Amino acid sequence: MVKIAPSILSADFANLERDIQKISTADYVHVDVMDGVFVPNISIGIPVVKCIRPTTTLPLDVHLMIVEPVRYVDQFCDAGADLVTVHVESDTEENIHKAIDKIHAKGKKAGIVVKPKTPAEAVLPFLEKVELILVMTVEPGFGGQSFMEDMMPKVTAIRKLIDEKNPTCELEVDGGVAPDTCKTCIVAGANVLVAGSSVYKAADIRARIAELRG
Ligand code: DX5
Ligand code: ZN
Repeated sequence: MVKIAPSILSADFANLERDIQKISTADYVHVDVMDGVFVPNISIGIPVVKCIRPTTTLPLDVHLMIVEPVRYVDQFCDAGADLVTVHVESDTEENIHKAIDKIHAKGKKAGIVVKPKTPAEAVLPFLEKVELILVMTVEPGFGGQSFMEDMMPKVTAIRKLIDEKNPTCELEVDGGVAPDTCKTCIVAGANVLVAGSSVYKAADIRARIAELRG
């Protein structure tokens, strides 16, 4: 079944608990962490993850858009993340391996993320040790951008690699996912869809979550 991970980047930060309750029929809470260096925006960090942890039973999918994430993965795990994803572009291959190992040592799931310009092959060094691969369908940094349809061949290529080498690994897409773009993601091979603005702008959030499942 297709899973939905609403991004709280589009929630009202003054009412985060209320806005997390609104997505209780989803499968993950997607938390976008930005440092103003890896991406040109600053969002939320460790104290916020800690505060939202008791407000939901859904797993927290923490997307780290920060340089050298190995420095902070332990703290995000301790704050309550269930899944922590790190960008392959954010450090050396060796340090990305170290970050994944640290997340696993905390008993949490680890994932890697690829930006739009990063090719599918960049996942190969990590493919067999991660629980999730995230393919960005916008340039990371902001919610509300247009979906990049041209990422679909990459999603399909990574789906093929996952099926061959690590079939339980999840394949997530993030950026511009809405009722008119969700089906193409699912057909391409994604099984987890992140959606920020299309969920939080909907008049009926539950209905929108159901609609995005395709
Ligand atoms: C972008 C973030 C996304 C973003 C998605 O850097 O990683 O998770 O919140 O927002 P929408 O769904 O509005 O494109
Ligand atoms: Zn994200």
